[in-house]
Amino acid sequence: MNIQIEKTGSYLPELVITNDDLATIVDTNDEWISTRSGIKSRHYTSGEPTWFMGKTAAERALEGIDPTTIGLIIVTTVTPDYMTPATASIMQAELGATNAFCFDLNAGCTGFVFALDVAATYLAAMPFERALVIAAETLTKQTDFEDRKTCVLFGDGAGAVLLRKTPAGESSAFHGRFMGGTGDGAEYLVGKAFEVKHPFLPEETFPERFPEHEAGRDFSMAGREVYKFAVNALPEAVEKAVADAGWEIGDVDLIVPHQANSRIIQGAARRLKVDDSVMIDRIETIGNTSSATIPIVLDALVREGRVKRGMNVVFCGFGGGLCYGAVAFTY
Ligand code: ACO
Repeated sequence: MNIQIEKTGSYLPELVITNDDLATIVDTNDEWISTRSGIKSRHYTSGEPTWFMGKTAAERALEGIDPTTIGLIIVTTVTPDYMTPATASIMQAELGATNAFCFDLNAGCTGFVFALDVAATYLAAMPFERALVIAAETLTKQTDFEDRKTCVLFGDGAGAVLLRKTPAGESSAFHGRFMGGTGDGAEYLVGKAFEVKHPFLPEETFPERFPEHEAGRDFSMAGREVYKFAVNALPEAVEKAVADAGWEIGDVDLIVPHQANSRIIQGAARRLKVDDSVMIDRIETIGNTSSATIPIVLDALVREGRVKRGMNVVFCGFGGGLCYGAVAFTY
């Protein structure tokens, strides 16, 4: 049973914030941000919730498709609007995908790659025809706009891919995967959820694992540690997924990595000895939108005609957890 990415969609909010805009609120400048990260501008929500961005990206992926043929919806997000219901349940109703079972998956910036693999695995094992994976992030909800080391990196947006069983006569298929992680680095990327506040809370409370993050729900990051992890994780995951597919690195036409930082992406291209035209770097105008970066970039590549049926593609995610993973497939 082979699976293909049938269609794609994305949504970027209209509001564009440049590096110069950020320099009006924190002590930074365009030169520092561009040279350290490759980012020039990013999109911020004007109030659109995460579910709305995800729904709009999915609607664009579903143009001309009967939503009742979808058997599974997975939404990846670290910034949901609700702890319950799952964002995926909201999608089911909004999209009219009445036959789908739905759940959210949180694996930080790796979420989309994990979800894609889970959806492809379910699709191969179950009788339904299609599965939908949506990545939607409103990182500005968690961004600390007083922390210049992190606030310059993030943006908001959503991407979606529709999977289906590969039609006869097409070469599309998933060939290889690698999924990994190291919880030892969990404290390097932290966004806190709810506080315990029941009325019987003793004065001396249970010690937290990351006490330095007690203060608030804003996101915090040990940038250097994440950088060290990412520059190795990205090429390692790509190499392992490519080997699992039975390919050589020279067989790969396009690598779409998580867009965290141009320096990480370009460092990985050098280590893998692939050309800049193979390793896709589109962070300049979107910034880091966590799990949404890969499907946002994929949708742009599809609409530009840059990715075509029969091409060998690798997606690679890495980030909070720390998690990392890659899938190798023929588009
Ligand atoms: N503008 C100007 N100066 C700044 C800024 C800023 N926005 N931020 C930090 N600086 C200053 C620091 O204060 C420091 O000054 P000092 O030497 O006087 O103390 C100097 O620049 C260097 O700061 P570092 O934090 O050491 O900068 P570094 O070279 O490590 O770059 C960066 C920071 C870009 C975050 C880098 O560590 C990195 O790319 N890390 C990877 C993290 C990442 O990509 N995270 C994304 C989220 S997770 C994910 O998606 C995987």
